[in-house]
Amino acid sequence: MYDMYPYFTNDGSVGLYSFDVNDIYHSTYGALTEAYEKFILPADLTSFLKKNNEIKILDICFGIGYNTKSLLNFILDFKYNEQIYTDNHTYIDKVYTDNKKLKVFIKAIDIDKNLAYLSPFFITSKNNIKNNKLDFKQAKIEKMLKCEKSQKFVLKKEVNILLIKNILDKIDNEAICILKDPKYALYFDKEMIGLFWYLINRYNKKCIELNFFTFLHNIYYRYISNGYKNVSKWLKMNDFIFDLNIDDARKILLSDNNTYDFIFLDAFTPAKCPCLWTVDFFRLLFEHLNLDGMILTYSNSATVRNAFLHAGFYVGKIYTESSGKFTGTVAVKNKSLIKYELSEYDLSLLKTKAGIFYRDENLNAINEAIIERHKIEVKNSNLISSSQFIKEWKRLH
Ligand SMILES: C[S@@+](CC[C@H](N)C(=O)[O-])C[C@H]1O[C@@H](n2cnc3c(N)ncnc32)[C@H](O)[C@@H]1O
Repeated sequence: MYDMYPYFTNDGSVGLYSFDVNDIYHSTYGALTEAYEKFILPADLTSFLKKNNEIKILDICFGIGYNTKSLLNFILDFKYNEQIYTDNHTYIDKVYTDNKKLKVFIKAIDIDKNLAYLSPFFITSKNNIKNNKLDFKQAKIEKMLKCEKSQKFVLKKEVNILLIKNILDKIDNEAICILKDPKYALYFDKEMIGLFWYLINRYNKKCIELNFFTFLHNIYYRYISNGYKNVSKWLKMNDFIFDLNIDDARKILLSDNNTYDFIFLDAFTPAKCPCLWTVDFFRLLFEHLNLDGMILTYSNSATVRNAFLHAGFYVGKIYTESSGKFTGTVAVKNKSLIKYELSEYDLSLLKTKAGIFYRDENLNAINEAIIERHKIEVKNSNLISSSQFIKEWKRLH
């Protein structure tokens, strides 16, 4: 039986905890907020969409899809506008929304099919969050949840409708069982389940248990019919492909011929899932990135930054205005796209043991083997340790 450990994060969106990896999938600060702050805002999509009619995205570690959803939310909200100088010597915004056709291609990859299939159903904006008793091991999570509540971003229901329409044929009985399990009912959006049933009935003759879904459909479908109409209108005007892949990201990318404008890399931390942070995987990503493309990730680690540099990228930082902190890393081929350069301190750290990166030449090693090999390399290295370096740096600065 598949087990999930959901809880509401501080912005009212559902976050997950993984027992296997003993790690959280999303920041307790807010799963949706995190996607916006670490992936969408630093990508500067406004500039990109003004210059281009086509956008290609690779979402590595799709999970329950916050990065793709935030991107779609941004695109659906986006207005092409131009500043026009008027006779009164002022600028006005001229808005074009309908006369530009946009091509959107998203390739999403995750190894966990259940999360991907359930992604459109998770609640993203719960008011009055109550997580009094989480029934899994997470004193740490509860403590983090006590920090300030925040809800800055709101996801349009059209985004989830778009995803449901696109993965309708894939959603299988195992995912449906989870959707129906009363233990998770609090975390799923009943309107979306109602829509799912409506679409299954209309387009897909799969035989699934009727009563539960018919009930939800009758109650909730009318609340979302407007959203559904908006989606149909948007799809008539624009090209949209959502290509969801369930497998190891290395395997999928080895047989993928696309290149991308933006790559979101949202794997578990390097210490837990090193196979997606190796220099060899980054070399593979290099082949999949357009010349003016950008890879974005939440990791600040010297191991990761050094691996990107050795794979041939220019590397910069992500800065989050709301926290005033550097909250991630970007890797690019065109240096001028870097807004926040690595500092002298960051670059010096790469030359310590902390900068020793993970390796996986054949792109098929298991995480444990990659970790073991890295441990031996660190142990045998003559480089100074990061703690020694930090001590020395503090003494001199
Ligand atoms: C931190 S979570 C990603 C959260 C996600 N971006 C979201 O919005 O929900 C990491 C994800 O990596 C996936 N994963 C782990 N190893 C993988 C691999 N080798 N290839 C593809 N996905 C993998 C896990 O199933 C998990 O969903």
